[in-house]
Amino acid sequence: MNTQDKQWWKEAVVYQIYPRSFMDSNGDGIGDLRGITTRLDYLKELGVDVLWLSPIYDSPNDDNGYDIRDYRAIMKEFGTMADFDELLEEAHKLGLKILMDMVVNHSSDEHLWFRESRMSRNNPYRDYYIWREGRGNNPPNNWASWFYGSAWEYDPPTDMYYLHIFSRKQADLNWENPKVREEVYDLMKFWLDKGVDGFRMDVINLISKTPEYPDGEVTGQYGAYGEPAPFCCNGPRVHEFLEEMNREVLSKYDIMTVGETPVVTMEEAKRYTNAAGTELNMVVQFDHVKTEHGTYGKYTRQRFRIEDIKRIMSVWQDGLYSSGWNSLYWENHDQSRSVSRFGDDSTPLLWEKSAKMLACCLYMQQGTPFIYQGQELGMTNARLDSISDYHDIEALNAYKTLVEQEQVYTHDEMMDCINRMGRDNARFPFQWDATANAGFTAGTPWIRVNPHYTAVNAASQIIDENSIFYFYKNLVALRKKHRIIVYGKYRLLKSPEDLWVYVREVEGQTLLVINSFSAEERYYAIPEDLAEKKRELLIGNYPADDKWNGINLRPYECRVYLL
Ligand code: GLC
Ligand code: CA
Repeated sequence: MNTQDKQWWKEAVVYQIYPRSFMDSNGDGIGDLRGITTRLDYLKELGVDVLWLSPIYDSPNDDNGYDIRDYRAIMKEFGTMADFDELLEEAHKLGLKILMDMVVNHSSDEHLWFRESRMSRNNPYRDYYIWREGRGNNPPNNWASWFYGSAWEYDPPTDMYYLHIFSRKQADLNWENPKVREEVYDLMKFWLDKGVDGFRMDVINLISKTPEYPDGEVTGQYGAYGEPAPFCCNGPRVHEFLEEMNREVLSKYDIMTVGETPVVTMEEAKRYTNAAGTELNMVVQFDHVKTEHGTYGKYTRQRFRIEDIKRIMSVWQDGLYSSGWNSLYWENHDQSRSVSRFGDDSTPLLWEKSAKMLACCLYMQQGTPFIYQGQELGMTNARLDSISDYHDIEALNAYKTLVEQEQVYTHDEMMDCINRMGRDNARFPFQWDATANAGFTAGTPWIRVNPHYTAVNAASQIIDENSIFYFYKNLVALRKKHRIIVYGKYRLLKSPEDLWVYVREVEGQTLLVINSFSAEERYYAIPEDLAEKKRELLIGNYPADDKWNGINLRPYECRVYLL
């Protein structure tokens, strides 16, 4: 173990809070900052170190806060700056750090900069955004928005189009303009000087676009529009911009920086997370949560294949070892619930076992663990019949495009897709207890509660030492105790397809991690060189079984041995 590589952000466990759905303190049905403050004890009990707050800034909420109107103000529904200061102070008292979500690839179209920018072609803010002439009556190029439709919006006052990779209310900032970069660095300093402990940076590898704006390939996923990814991800100046940001801001503070980087290659990721620390600490890559993607992106009727996920994650484990750093996640506010998606929630037993196994399998790998609110309870997908139960702009637009316009899917087929993959699965209110509205609010929640809350909730799990919550708590504690879990080198072992077996190695020590992705019994023979060693079972999701040379793994069983 190279101790020079030791960093607090490698050893920390991050817990993501989606404030709108975490805890409502005043009965208006919307989660808020004071709600979070009242629940800090719960998070401390779990043992996490860092709280990542999805955006809490002033926003018209076209994309639930990922469209920021004022980077220095708190969203009214979430509370006031005084509430934020209190949250930060109380968290710090408990030894919890706060990670802010920084969304600076784009701003809201209601941001002052954009309101000015659109007024005239020579407005001083004009170049804060990306404006182009149309091609006749058509947009400047064929790019699709990732939220469907064209990525260009025609703006009559100046007879030009502006770029929005996401919704038309999320206008892309023009990072080529040094003034924009200065503004961003300033607002980052504003939050860091308040004492926040770092940033998760939203789609940060999109900030440099190919200057020629060529047409993208029409794949059918976005109807007649083309895929912009090759020309908007990892663009020509992205490293230059991040290095500058690092020089001007990040390097001056002892913070954690996480880059959300869709469509990132290994080579790019190595640069973003380089060990010299000239850009970011770690990236969020997407390969392992895309194995179900197909012709219609995430809304393709296709099941994941564990052998794909295993292979992909192993590539990331090997690829970034010693040269960069991974983040480890199954869930966040954009993904559906892992136990329903990669595990098995068809019976209470399989639900419990597979939720624990998924945690073990992921968090024993190398990288900084990210737990998404409710994941530690095994919260499930909701499975609703009506599109009107969903609020997410991405799912609603997908429904419009794929059912109404392109007629690719019937209503039922599309609901099946949304129920499996839709982002709202992660956004239904946190399930605190079995009382009305899962204890999330005394009022009417902004989005309905998942009907499963009477069976799956925090109150019942914190009093049960065999619960999923406790399993997470134990995993987090193990990580603090055994540094091999943080720093050991990953090596995939040969196994039948639906087993995922790997070791972590440091001099003189081996951690053996065995996971079954099968609802049936599976046989596994420990490799001879390992079978000879003295062993200690650190954790498992079934009562210990002393057989060693040949193990009969029970449904979704996991075990971790220190050898
Ligand atoms: C990121 C966020 C997602 C958001 C998008 C646009 O992918 O995680 O929630 O919709 O960026 O900001
Ligand atoms: Ca509220």
